[in-house]
Amino acid sequence: MTPSLIDLETQLQSVEQLAQGAIAVAATLDELEQLRVAYLGKKGQLSQVLGGMGKLSAADRPRIGALANTVKNALQSALEHKKEVLQKAETDAQLAAEALDVTMPGVFVPQGRVHPINSIIDQIVDIFVGLGYTVAQGPEVENDYHNFEALNFLPDHPARDMQDTLYLIDGQLMRTHTSNVQIRYMKEHEPPLRAVAVGRCYRRDTVDATHAAVFHQIEFFAVDKNLTFSDLKGTIKVFLEALFGEIPVRFRPSFFPFTEPSAEVDVQWQGQWLEILGCGMIDPNVLEAVGYDPEVYSGFAAGLGVERLAMVQSKIDDIRRLYASDLRFLRQF
Ligand code: DAH
Repeated sequence: MTPSLIDLETQLQSVEQLAQGAIAVAATLDELEQLRVAYLGKKGQLSQVLGGMGKLSAADRPRIGALANTVKNALQSALEHKKEVLQKAETDAQLAAEALDVTMPGVFVPQGRVHPINSIIDQIVDIFVGLGYTVAQGPEVENDYHNFEALNFLPDHPARDMQDTLYLIDGQLMRTHTSNVQIRYMKEHEPPLRAVAVGRCYRRDTVDATHAAVFHQIEFFAVDKNLTFSDLKGTIKVFLEALFGEIPVRFRPSFFPFTEPSAEVDVQWQGQWLEILGCGMIDPNVLEAVGYDPEVYSGFAAGLGVERLAMVQSKIDDIRRLYASDLRFLRQF
């Protein structure tokens, strides 16, 4: 054996030892790849050692060749094995980081509910749409003409006192009822017509269990040839039955400047009669104000108190509860 044969053998063995040691402690796949290049790559340590083979005798070369192959195979399989180990560790770490604790309590989003006012508005409008009514709209900030004058309230008519409201600097006012929509709608349409309008109204009313200074009304009205008070009564009866089923209803004679004759309708609430709407045959003066001939056309109209109907439907004892935003109360509906 020539010394250089021994040298090469020793070198190969020490390359293997160093490589095995480094592979064993490699902590990442990147590091492992660097080791592969450093030891087994084209210019890697194994190739460098083998570069010295030229000096060997022909008889020694196969021996070193065989040893080099063994070292190469050993290192390749060590790298392969370590690669699997590191890949598994990486996957395990990722799974652990992304793990969900399915036993943790969830975050619950509270479920909303429709407010009793909105709910009853939807039901009522649905009923009238089912009866062939069109949905109409009008402004909450109104002028004297549409809120009062065209509805036959003369400037000094005492009926205005019952509907005092907030006035704006320019002479406009917060509408006191949805009857303004009658005027606006009739001016723009020709009979026969049927319309329903929902809206907020404002009054200088002392707030108590059945009165609010800001409240909602639903107005419905119809104009055609030969409409009579019976048509109005029938419509109200059908409407109340659709909303409440069979309940006791009371019609009382009343007065409104814009209807003749006029009535108010009461239903039972908390063991007493509660007024839920005003109604009547549209006054000829109102028909004339919108350009209809009262000799040809007649009409009926009504204004419903939405809060009161909600109080009857949901058995609510005080109108103020509807505006207190108390979730303990509202969650019941
Ligand atoms: N606008 C009246 C009020 O707020 C209610 C009313 C009465 C409306 C008779 C009407 C009606 O359309 O015909 O007190």
